[in-house]
Amino acid sequence: MYLSIFLPWLLCIPLFVHSSPHEPTGLLISCGSETKQTVPDTGVTYIPDDGFTLVGNKTALQTKDKLLPILTTLRYFPDTAARKYCYTFQAIKGSKYLVRTIYYYGGFDSGNEPPVFDQIIGGTKWSLVNTTEDYANGLSSYYEIILVASIKTLSVCVARNNHTVSSPFISAIEVISLEDSMYNSTDFGAHALVTVARSRFGHEDTISFPEDPYYRLWQPFKDDNEGVVSSQPSLSTSDFWNKPPPEAFATGLTTSAGKKLDVKWPPVPLPSTRYYISLYFRDNRPPKTTSTWRVFNVAVNGETFYNNLNVTTDGVTVYAAEWPLSGHTLISLTPDAKSSIGPLINAGEIYQVMPLGGQTLMQDAIAMEEVSRSFDNPPSDWTGDPCLPHENSWTGVTCSNEKMPRVSSLDLSNFGISGVLDANINNLTALHHLWLGGNKLSGSIPEMYSLTQLETLHLENNSFSGPVPKSFATLKGVHEIFLQGNKLDGPIPRRLQEKKGITIRVSPKYHLSVRW
Ligand SMILES: *[C@@H]1O[C@H](CO)[C@@H](O)[C@H](O)[C@H]1NC(C)=O
Ligand SMILES: *[C@@H]1O[C@H](CO)[C@@H](O)[C@H](O)[C@H]1NC(C)=O
Ligand SMILES: *[C@@H]1O[C@H](CO)[C@@H](O)[C@H](O)[C@H]1NC(C)=O
Ligand SMILES: *[C@@H]1O[C@H](CO)[C@@H](O)[C@H](O)[C@H]1NC(C)=O
Ligand SMILES: *[C@@H]1O[C@H](CO)[C@@H](O)[C@H](O)[C@H]1NC(C)=O
Ligand SMILES: *[C@@H]1O[C@H](CO)[C@@H](O)[C@H](O)[C@H]1NC(C)=O
Ligand SMILES: *[C@@H]1O[C@H](CO)[C@@H](O)[C@H](O)[C@H]1NC(C)=O
Repeated sequence: MYLSIFLPWLLCIPLFVHSSPHEPTGLLISCGSETKQTVPDTGVTYIPDDGFTLVGNKTALQTKDKLLPILTTLRYFPDTAARKYCYTFQAIKGSKYLVRTIYYYGGFDSGNEPPVFDQIIGGTKWSLVNTTEDYANGLSSYYEIILVASIKTLSVCVARNNHTVSSPFISAIEVISLEDSMYNSTDFGAHALVTVARSRFGHEDTISFPEDPYYRLWQPFKDDNEGVVSSQPSLSTSDFWNKPPPEAFATGLTTSAGKKLDVKWPPVPLPSTRYYISLYFRDNRPPKTTSTWRVFNVAVNGETFYNNLNVTTDGVTVYAAEWPLSGHTLISLTPDAKSSIGPLINAGEIYQVMPLGGQTLMQDAIAMEEVSRSFDNPPSDWTGDPCLPHENSWTGVTCSNEKMPRVSSLDLSNFGISGVLDANINNLTALHHLWLGGNKLSGSIPEMYSLTQLETLHLENNSFSGPVPKSFATLKGVHEIFLQGNKLDGPIPRRLQEKKGITIRVSPKYHLSVRW
């Protein structure tokens, strides 16, 4: 989806002081910006992105065009070694969010074509980011996803893929909290909704904030249908579960009495999968002036979607939680034989129902966070989900293939890591190999009683001090323990010395002090 990049697109929206009792909360972030940026007329303020990511470089576009302020800066990610570049946002576990990412290339890398790359949300590959066509048409691009936070943070990442030539980048991110009732027919434990289209029919202008307090964009849609109607304005939509803005019902497409109305919407061919579809209708005639009703059948690609829909001046919505679609879509409204006025439609939303890719088992994710925190300089991609997506796991981290993957090996040999090794390493109970040799880690080596799967442990060539942990003797499967090149002291536990089938390396000096 695209937006115009120039200032005037919001100028038609009147100044409005928003004061609903349930003011939605949203984080609006202008990436790469040094200062707050306020959108003219709406007063909506975007904040800089510094507090939400530790990676990437900022830049301002060199352009003479009068761009929307949030598109004038961006953050790009030149580090080719990192497996992903993440933003992390605080979230309320179990709450629903709309996340929108906005991209405007603007030739920041002196190239002619925007780079193509991936975007990731949590442990799920969300989509390809390909802004080539929009950019060629002088437009910015945006992507939207609706999901429920399954942990106390939301991570939004971009990542290189095999098509990426220059650096991935991002212009803005919006994280808006939604009401529980919105889109609640979706099983958000297993799915997210990816926006395909959100349209108002029969109008020229986009609806956005403040008319839609959830910052949703309702893009204008007009096709070759001639009939366009306007409604009486006042309408309360607070009872609608999806909280569409009343303005979405202000106009609609219609046709004359007795005729079928065919609407080719959404206007793009769709990949074959399941979609959430919500359609909005309202009789445009003033209430109580008539004894005729707008009654019609709704079909999608010839299949019954809803029969005998009786559209009144209060407005009505019909939806399908998972409707299979493929290619072009045709929405047909067939009037009841007795109906003396034509059918009409005002607005629609369509989302792809996207299965979530899972996430690292909580115990391992928390332990990895703590281990990361205890390093002074963890790898730059140690943010977001540690294991998922599999191609974008943290550098040095290998995971099992389960739905909730576990960390099975951790290898940061010779990474120049300093700091200490956190005791939470003991919580990575599926760990088979722990290789941290050739770094600058100091402090004592934590006990690892719970690492019952451990096979090899390489902590050589660091600055660890203190004793060899007693727990090493209890690790049944371990057959290699390398501790040489540290500043350890005290005896090697006798039970460890007596273990069979194990290679233990300690510093020669240390060896001498061991009494057998
Ligand atoms: C990006 O930022 C890093 C760290 O600040 C810096 O070392 C690097 O030179 C920058 N890269 C570019 C291409 O400006
Ligand atoms: C990106 O989009 C352009 C224009 O639609 C297309 O030609 C190109 O193949 C796409 N790139 C990838 C990697 O999908
Ligand atoms: C990229 O290409 C490599 C080698 O051709 C392949 O192994 C890898 O799976 C590809 N990655 C993606 C994300 O397609
Ligand atoms: C969705 O929200 C509405 C309004 O709160 C409620 O009546 C309905 O039962 C909810 N549906 C589901 C599936 O939770
Ligand atoms: C349509 O709804 C109105 C108001 O609820 C009702 O009076 C009317 O009988 C209904 N018409 C049909 C055909 O169902
Ligand atoms: C993780 O490790 C810490 C420190 O050893 C411990 O306090 C905590 O209970 C462990 N948590 C889990 C889930 O095992
Ligand atoms: C540790 O140091 C020794 C001696 O300098 C070297 O041979 C070995 O390769 C080093 N191992 C690692 C993992 O850095």
